[in-house]
Formats: sequence, structure tokens, C-alpha cells
Amino acid sequence: MHNLGILLSGRGSNFEAIAKNVAAGRIPNARIAVVISNKLDAGGIEIARRLGLHALVIPSKGKDREQHDREVVAALQEHKVDLVCLAGYMRLLSPWFVQQFPHRILNIHPSLLPAFPGLEAQQQAFAYGVKVAGCTVHFVDEELDHGAIIVQKTVPVLDGDDEHTLAERILEQEHIAYSEAINVVLEGKFDVVGRRLVRTVAAG
Ligand code: GAR
Repeated sequence: MHNLGILLSGRGSNFEAIAKNVAAGRIPNARIAVVISNKLDAGGIEIARRLGLHALVIPSKGKDREQHDREVVAALQEHKVDLVCLAGYMRLLSPWFVQQFPHRILNIHPSLLPAFPGLEAQQQAFAYGVKVAGCTVHFVDEELDHGAIIVQKTVPVLDGDDEHTLAERILEQEHIAYSEAINVVLEGKFDVVGRRLVRTVAAG
């Protein structure tokens, strides 16, 4: 059984989509061991409690990054988490945190990386005038929105779109992409060659 740890800061819709897929058996052999928010008022924490999951708030405000990260990692270890999923966790991880879970931290970003890293990626893409937008699930390394890509989904930008309608359609794809990426990682049938995640075929 794989223990997932979810880190979030806000609404929690990506977490909720993962939770639904876990409950429906679409992410086999996995359970959500703990949900942690760095914000007191995160909607995702309410969802976690409603679903009967372990939900913790570890406030980051006013704390040194590594001190906060040490508290979060201690909670993840206490719940025996083996895969950390950042789901709208709006805080950079310290290199120390990343080193505790090598190739075991995933993030979702609402753009086709390496385009539009950072905040408000959907708005950045819309304002730039791209015709194809999308989302990316990637491994977390020590640089922002940078690690090897696991899954990407594209979303066409329509003439009638505004940044909100585009963000909504990207979000629908995020909810599909994240569980797909978790399954790829948990199945373990891949190598990371340079930046490239390459699926391997099991012998026999
Ligand atoms: C999602 O769109 C996610 O891709 C984005 O925050 C939103 C969280 O929504 N993450 C980032 O921009 C990270 N750089 P949610 O709380 O409803 O899952």
C-alpha cells in the first residue's frame, strides 16, 4: 500500500479529484495518509475533514522556510508518506525538503512547462496569446516548476475565452492529469533519462 501525502494552500480541487479517484479504486494500492495545509483558511482542509482524512494545518506565516519544512516533513514521516503530492501548495520547498523525498514529490502547474512558470500561469498564457494552453505534472526538484515532466494535457484557447473560462478548462484537465501521473509513478515502470521520463516495458 502506498501512502500519499497531500500539501495544499487553498481551494483543494486537485486534492479532491485525487481523493475521488483513490476512493473509486482508480489509483490502486494507494491511500491518502495525510493532508497538510500551510494556510489556516484553506478550503482543502475542510474537504479533507469532510472525507474523514487526517488533516493538519502547519502555518508557514512568519516562519523560516527550512524550519517550516522540517515540521511538514516530520508530519509526513509520522504518517509514513512515500509519495508527496503538491496540489496548489503555494510555497517553495527548501532544497533540504526535496532531498528527503528523491523522485517522490510531484507538483501540478497550470501551464505547458517550461512556458509560464510561477504565479497565475493561466493568465500569463492568455495574455501572451497562445493558441494552446494546458497543464503539467512534474517531479519537484530544487528549482521552481522545473523537474522532469510526467504528464501534460493540452487545452485549446478559444476565440471566445477569457482568462477565467480558459483557467476552468485547464482545471478540468488538471483533475485528470494528476491521477494519471500518480499512477505512472506508483507503477514505477519508467526511467528518468536526463530530463526525460521514459516508460519501460516490463520483461516477460
Ligand atoms: C491549480 O490550478 C494548480 O495548478 C495551481 O494552483 C491551483 C490550485 O487549485 N498551482 C500552481 O499555480 C503552482 N505553481 P486547487 O487548490 O483547486 O487544486
